[in-house]
Amino acid sequence: RAVAVIMVGGPTKGTRFRPLSLNIPKPLISLAGHPMVHHPILACKRIPNLAQIYLIGFYEEREFALYVSSISNELKVPVKYLREDKPHGSAGGMFYFRDLIMEDNPSHIFLLNCDVCCSFPLVEMLEAHNRYGGMGTILVIKVSAESAYQFGELVADPTTNELLHYTEKPETFVSDLINCGVYIFTPGIFKAIEDVSLQRKDGANSRHVSSFESLSSGNSRTLPSNFVRLDQDILSPLAGKKQLYTYETLDFWEQIKTPGMSLKCSGLYLAQFQMTSPYLLANGDGTKSATIVHEVYVHPSAKVHPTAKIGPNVSISANARIGAGVRLMNCIILDGVEIKENAVILFSIIGWRSSIGKWSRIQAEGRYDGKLGITILGEDVIVEDEVVVTSCVVLPNKTLNVSVQEEIIL
Ligand code: GDD
Repeated sequence: RAVAVIMVGGPTKGTRFRPLSLNIPKPLISLAGHPMVHHPILACKRIPNLAQIYLIGFYEEREFALYVSSISNELKVPVKYLREDKPHGSAGGMFYFRDLIMEDNPSHIFLLNCDVCCSFPLVEMLEAHNRYGGMGTILVIKVSAESAYQFGELVADPTTNELLHYTEKPETFVSDLINCGVYIFTPGIFKAIEDVSLQRKDGANSRHVSSFESLSSGNSRTLPSNFVRLDQDILSPLAGKKQLYTYETLDFWEQIKTPGMSLKCSGLYLAQFQMTSPYLLANGDGTKSATIVHEVYVHPSAKVHPTAKIGPNVSISANARIGAGVRLMNCIILDGVEIKENAVILFSIIGWRSSIGKWSRIQAEGRYDGKLGITILGEDVIVEDEVVVTSCVVLPNKTLNVSVQEEIIL
């Protein structure tokens, strides 16, 4: 049997997602018409003999209650949200709930970060993991040498795929092979986390460090004993000990730390739907009748005028209304948004219930590289007719009646 654990973090994380994360936890922000965390959950559905999916975080329970109950019904696999009273780190969080996780007596624990976008090749990873016979298998990918420093960099044995060396976000280049934040472990992982925790306790007892001092210094020797990071505290010391192995993906992989990346990843998931679940995509066959440039997601309750032209990479959420002659490209339109006649939206995320006036343009400046410069409107923003908004972040409840460029509208 297997259990899946998805680490969702908490409100102190995801601040780069403001203003979108002001009224919804980052893991529930919509990508390709579904909450971010929905994509790894769907991938877990393919794991053989899966008993449970746990989401572990330190958000309030009620923020996940609705989503967790609807997804459990839909998937016919129980999905539960487990709340930590405070952050315990990416390994400590899982350890905190070890008794619950072990209740189903799993032989394998799948551990996934919620803020990565990939094809989650979990079944292929499991086959490799069983072949290697180690305690853990890490999904890895080659990235450009210039971008590798943002991730855990690692060295693997080219023949056996054993993890030989691991450094989290190193200051000097180690390797262009990086940690994707997707793992399979045997229950032995809990013993490894416990060992780190016990070592810390011994150290702290001999030094009497307050937990305030520990957190602010971030030094691993002075961290609280129950705060354990998977990367620095587990993967680094266990590298080269024939316990951890790597599985390299050749598919797409991205990390979702900014709204710009969520727009890019929305497009990647839409393209994946084309292969895995094309019925989810709008096809312009008369059901929605607007001109569709693939790939596009339109929620069944959204109303799209037949003369609108939509795509590529557009997702339109529930109850949105898209008027005549509107052009949408590379954007996410959230619930209840109204876009009036002949408005143009490019490289933007339009927050809940916002309204865009006739002939207005919401857009991003210059060449868009998926990381910088997209326009984000918070909830209930009103953009009046014939206004141009370029590369701006607009906080909730604002009304814009003049054109603005590269500003944060507070
Ligand atoms: N529940 C809970 N509690 N979740 C947490 C906690 C915690 O205390 N701390 C982090 N997380 C979650 C985050 O929400 C995220 O899903 C995941 O754990 C990893 O977060 P971080 O520890 O902040 O690391 P990172 O995202 O900067 O980098 C990690 O992921 C990269 C891949 O995206 C590292 O493992 C890198 O090596 C890796 O390349």
